Amino acid sequence: MSAPLRLGILGSGKGSNFRAIADAIAAGTLYAEARVVISDVADAGILDLARERGVRAEFVAPGKFKTKLEPESEHRIVELLRSADVEIVVLAGWMRMIKTPLLEAFPRRIINIHPSLLPKFPGLAAWEQALAAGASEAGCTVHYVDAGMDTGEILAQARVPVLPGDTSATLHARIQVEEHRLYPEVLARFARRE
Ligand code: GAR
Repeated sequence: MSAPLRLGILGSGKGSNFRAIADAIAAGTLYAEARVVISDVADAGILDLARERGVRAEFVAPGKFKTKLEPESEHRIVELLRSADVEIVVLAGWMRMIKTPLLEAFPRRIINIHPSLLPKFPGLAAWEQALAAGASEAGCTVHYVDAGMDTGEILAQARVPVLPGDTSATLHARIQVEEHRLYPEVLARFARRE
């Protein structure tokens, strides 16, 4: 059997997708190893979760921009991922655009989960966009990352209904249940070297 898939995880938030991935690894349904978790937010929950699980946790200060990293910060992330010998970069609630340093360092090896049925509702708070548009269904998409915003090739999607009375919180929670199932499943395909 080949070696476990070596993952580097980037996240800006509470880290429930990272938790689902770590749980799948622990349960043996995902043959992988979380080598490093990196955040652009010093007190992000995802860093605490990583530490709790004995995974190297690194904060990288993002610099002055809101929607992307300062080039020096992105180079630092590339260094950290390389030093951890990462094969696949997993964006799990990462809220900044990825630029050339990372894209060139990990060509076709960066994947993202987005809380909508892309190409519908790219960008921020996609579930709120779905509610505002009066959509009858929503969902999540796992896709390769390219230079665009949520435009890379789609690997998998899961659908959920939008129910009468849904709020932003209830719809996002329903989508996250599917995210937590779908992301480890897609990663398991990579881990099987398919
Ligand atoms: C998830 O819903 C993820 O799809 C979304 O942020 C949330 C992170 O939750 N990502 C994006 O919107 C990326 N554009 P988590 O920190 O609990 O995994």
